[in-house]
Amino acid sequence: MTILVTGGAGFIGANFLYWELREHPEDRLVCVDALTYAGNLRSLEKAMKAENFRFVKADICDRKAIFDLFEEEKPDIVVNFAAETHVDRSVENPGVFLQTNILGTQTLMDACRRYGTKRFHQVATDEVYGDLPLDRPDLFFTEETPIHASSPYSASKAGADLLVMAYARTFGLPVSITRCSNNYGPYQFPEKLIPLMISRAMSDQPLPVYGTGENVRDWLYVDDHCAAIDLVMRKGREGEVYNVGGHNERTNLEVVKTILRALDKPESLITFVKDRPGHDRRYAIDPEKIHRELGWLPQTAFDQGIQATIRWYLDNKGWWEEILAGDYQQYYQRMYGNR
Ligand code: NAD
Ligand code: DAU
Repeated sequence: MTILVTGGAGFIGANFLYWELREHPEDRLVCVDALTYAGNLRSLEKAMKAENFRFVKADICDRKAIFDLFEEEKPDIVVNFAAETHVDRSVENPGVFLQTNILGTQTLMDACRRYGTKRFHQVATDEVYGDLPLDRPDLFFTEETPIHASSPYSASKAGADLLVMAYARTFGLPVSITRCSNNYGPYQFPEKLIPLMISRAMSDQPLPVYGTGENVRDWLYVDDHCAAIDLVMRKGREGEVYNVGGHNERTNLEVVKTILRALDKPESLITFVKDRPGHDRRYAIDPEKIHRELGWLPQTAFDQGIQATIRWYLDNKGWWEEILAGDYQQYYQRMYGNR
């Protein structure tokens, strides 16, 4: 089988490619990535050595490049990770989010229609459900929770999900969607909470916590997400949405304090800064459907996964130091300078 993976030079895509190379060496993997600021070929160095792996630099919005590639590869399955993914950047510049996340998804689905792809799998997010109040721990997002996006990022991902379901209904495209909670693990770009705090704590720099730090996220180790996507794209029912999450809820402050303890750094590094506009309060997934239908269960407890992640960032300083030394400096100044 040929599996076309978009956005594979990013965080989850790279982990997914390694998952597939390990678990399904019989399949051919074609990775398409535009190598935006978030894409990093260093993350794919080991994959590049595999005979059943091919990397193609292309934008998913580039209809000609995508159709030419489909003509050549005729993929059996397409998994769409490619996206603009950082909420704060979507507040600064929404346009590129709508372009890539909605129109890029459309281009890929048009190519799937033309070339008879057997499954288009959309990697979606729990953020499409909006947020939950902090004082109702009994509430969870199910697949029936109405779409209610808060940021330009989540609105663009919600738009993509609606389009995926519309292509299934109107054109009979064989699709599936997974909506996952916050991931963490190796190769995550250090603009996101966990790698940002690990890298800054390691350099004894202040840790910028938004608002009061009481917002809650439901953390999932990236390999558990990869396992869920693999199951759904191969065995999940066509036209269905599956929520993915592991009941690992933590406040941001708890996460930051865990990182500081593990690195033996003082809590005085924590600096409360101005809140993110429209900041979602709590995400919490009910993963009952994927468990019942496909037997998926997360394998990594948060306490174990966070230690493994911290160890990876300690062992791979070169990977993230190179990123921090580039354009990221200006981004940090713009985003945090006046907070
Ligand atoms: P990321 O930002 O680390 O990587 C995104 C990748 O997509 C990069 O390699 C980038 O170069 C590529 N890309 C961006 N625009 C492109 C374009 N126009 N054409 C081709 N490639 C392009 O993202 P991530 O955190 O790995 O997220 C991957 C997917 O999973 C996204 O769709 C995201 O919405 C979804 N998701 C992420 C999380 C999370 O916690 N990170 C949780 C749930 C769902
Ligand atoms: O829930 C899934 C989503 O998780 C994905 O769809 C997104 O692509 C991914 O970026 C992530 O979104 P979040 O906004 O939850 O992740 P982020 O790492 O940006 O922030 C996590 C929490 O930490 C959030 O409450 C904001 C807070 N935060 C973040 C940063 C970067 C801080 O307090 N300080 C910071 O500097």
